[in-house]
Amino acid sequence: MNTQILQFNSKNTQLCADEILSGGLVAFPTETVYGLGANALNPEAVKKIYDAKGRPSDNPLICHIYDKAQIEQFAFITPTAEKLIDKFMPGPITIVLQKKQIVPSVVTGGLDTVGIRMPNHKCALELIRECGVPLCAPSANTSTKPSPTLAEHVLHDLDGKIKYILDGGRCSVGLESTIVDCVNNTLLRQGGTPKEEIEAVIGKLNRPIVGNVPLCPGMKYKHYSPNANVYLALPGIDMHRRIEQKYDEASGKKIILSLGGNYGDRNTYCIGNSVEEYAYNLFAQFRRLDGEGYDIIICEGVDDYGVGAALMNRIHKASGGKTI
Ligand code: TXA
Ligand code: MG
Repeated sequence: MNTQILQFNSKNTQLCADEILSGGLVAFPTETVYGLGANALNPEAVKKIYDAKGRPSDNPLICHIYDKAQIEQFAFITPTAEKLIDKFMPGPITIVLQKKQIVPSVVTGGLDTVGIRMPNHKCALELIRECGVPLCAPSANTSTKPSPTLAEHVLHDLDGKIKYILDGGRCSVGLESTIVDCVNNTLLRQGGTPKEEIEAVIGKLNRPIVGNVPLCPGMKYKHYSPNANVYLALPGIDMHRRIEQKYDEASGKKIILSLGGNYGDRNTYCIGNSVEEYAYNLFAQFRRLDGEGYDIIICEGVDDYGVGAALMNRIHKASGGKTI
């Protein structure tokens, strides 16, 4: 199959909607990362997502909608969910609710809950509206690779596997949505909507249970990894010294990703001047450094607060837990 990148306009959106309604897959932009969409109500189409990504079939998919009124067709809305929908949708948040029967079990990996998200992105909303059905979509990367924030990243991972990539430019957030389980009042994944803002609206959230059955099946898989060895420097008074020491003792092609830090003549790239900018750039830089054959990436850590918490979570996963 020949994969084409299509600029966002109404004709191309229509082409993409036709492809989805005939059972195909289309990658599309959202404010967080690019998604790989299928008609959520067509189980055969949904199965193709798992094949294209190399994703385990017990890892459920998020259903993307364009209008809040759609939600009750697919899920039972709780009072907590109601508040989150009013306050944060459209936006980088996914709510997990008890599903209705209409949602095929292939979408939810056999769970009786479903993740619902309304992206804050014109292209995504227009595409979903044009389709007239919810689109279930994971991030449009190969499983375990950094999520795509540009159409070119999707092409790199999925070339030949899907017909169209709808190009809406660079994703403005750069990290995936925050996931809140409204059945168990639990924060399943930190993301583009800060936990503190969510808790200000619905009160304290539980943390996921780390046991045999994780509430968010995706959490048990390796994630977001570039080929290079990533090290996360934990913030603290001697962080700069620890980074310099690690850099000096590491062999291979190496780089420090800094939030405005200065490391003498060591190879350093300023990835942002705020945590938001760092988050916006992280996955794209991981992909660039892979392309340039880096062996070691040392990332400055940031405070575990707001979007910084999501950023720390992604770097931690990319590092496979290697902290300095
Ligand atoms: O920002 C985002 O959320 C992006 C864009 C494309 O919308 N999507 C995304 O999807 O990151 P994905 O599939 O890469 O990550 C979704 C996560 C997975 O870890 C999955 O296990 C979890 O959400 N998830 C989905 N449905 C769930 C459910 N019913 N219960 C618990 N976890 C769920
Ligand atoms: Mg993903």
